[in-house]
Amino acid sequence: MNTELITAIQDTFKEKFGDNYLMVSSPGRINLIGEHTDYNEGFVFPAAIDKGIITAIGKSDSETCSAVAYDLKEQFEFTLDEVEAIPKGNWRNYILGVVGELQKKGIEVPPFNVVFGGDVPNGAGLSSSAALENSIAFGLNELFGLGLTKHEMILVSQKAEHNYVGVRCGIMDQFASMFGEENQALLLDCRTQTATFYPIDFKDYELMLINSNVSHNLVENEYNDRRQVCEHVAQLLDVPFLRDATEEDLLKVKSQLSEADYQKALYVVQENDRVMKFAKAIEDNDVEQLGTFLLEAHQGMQHQFKISCDELDFLVEQAKAHPSVAGARMMGGGFGGCTINIVKKDALEDYAKTVTENYKNTFGIDCSVHFVKLSQGTHLIN
Ligand code: GLA
Repeated sequence: MNTELITAIQDTFKEKFGDNYLMVSSPGRINLIGEHTDYNEGFVFPAAIDKGIITAIGKSDSETCSAVAYDLKEQFEFTLDEVEAIPKGNWRNYILGVVGELQKKGIEVPPFNVVFGGDVPNGAGLSSSAALENSIAFGLNELFGLGLTKHEMILVSQKAEHNYVGVRCGIMDQFASMFGEENQALLLDCRTQTATFYPIDFKDYELMLINSNVSHNLVENEYNDRRQVCEHVAQLLDVPFLRDATEEDLLKVKSQLSEADYQKALYVVQENDRVMKFAKAIEDNDVEQLGTFLLEAHQGMQHQFKISCDELDFLVEQAKAHPSVAGARMMGGGFGGCTINIVKKDALEDYAKTVTENYKNTFGIDCSVHFVKLSQGTHLIN
């Protein structure tokens, strides 16, 4: 737990709004495997991590709500009678979104003040947005006794993202951030929204994240486009979601699709399958096999689903070339952020050094190496 950050958030709240508040910790997430399968009602394998968003939240004495982004040193005021997305509102829309979606459910949210800050590496694709949404939903629920279940809260968070941020995301990030458990990853069935917990201990190996420190493209547009292609193919197949399709099914409609769209749908069907095989390899303790699945998944995202970029591809090539790395792939929505790597413990330092030097020499910028602990989901801090 980042005690320094907690103290800073507490102090800021006290200074601005007084002594009555609750503290919430809401983690970011990694994903072992299963990208862009969640909104196809398929399977994903995320885990909450020991980095995320810390929030102090308390009742407001006036009609006005105040929200403070501690890291950015920004503050904004709003009232609860007109909760609408702000164009280019950035972090404000996550807060407004949660409030707005609660109101749409017929829940009356009284005025509140909030201060939040985070220790998730910037733009790393570790879902600081879901962490923030969950922290607001969870904080408001505790503060005002709204009586929501955790499951209802994550659906509110997800809708906030759809309607106020403009990304038609799946449920993976919000679910992992809310329901994570220490030292466990969760195999999540995004149709039933139920998870099976897997203790993660890769013995001689460890998970290493490498942040490319780049973010390309209009990620929201690219993301929503991918989702639309998936929905279109499912419609052609007359199935509710690509979760319900097989490779044989896809062949039947191949002639009605562009090669690009066919490959995208094929990736989703194959990735979904890989998640289940990955779970089996964890049960069998077969780290080499896990690594192979990561590499296959990356291939799929690079060439079929087309959400990778030169920097991420380079990092995965580096992993392939190093004898102590079992495998690696890009992680998250795409076009930047981190790769996730399974690296031999006795080679962590050596690999980190090699990859950072080579990356700098090739792209002229630094990548950064992070290690994370798998941690508890959104909770109150005493
Ligand atoms: C983003 C979305 C998730 C998921 C991933 C890709 O993180 O928020 O719902 O679709 O991308 O797997």
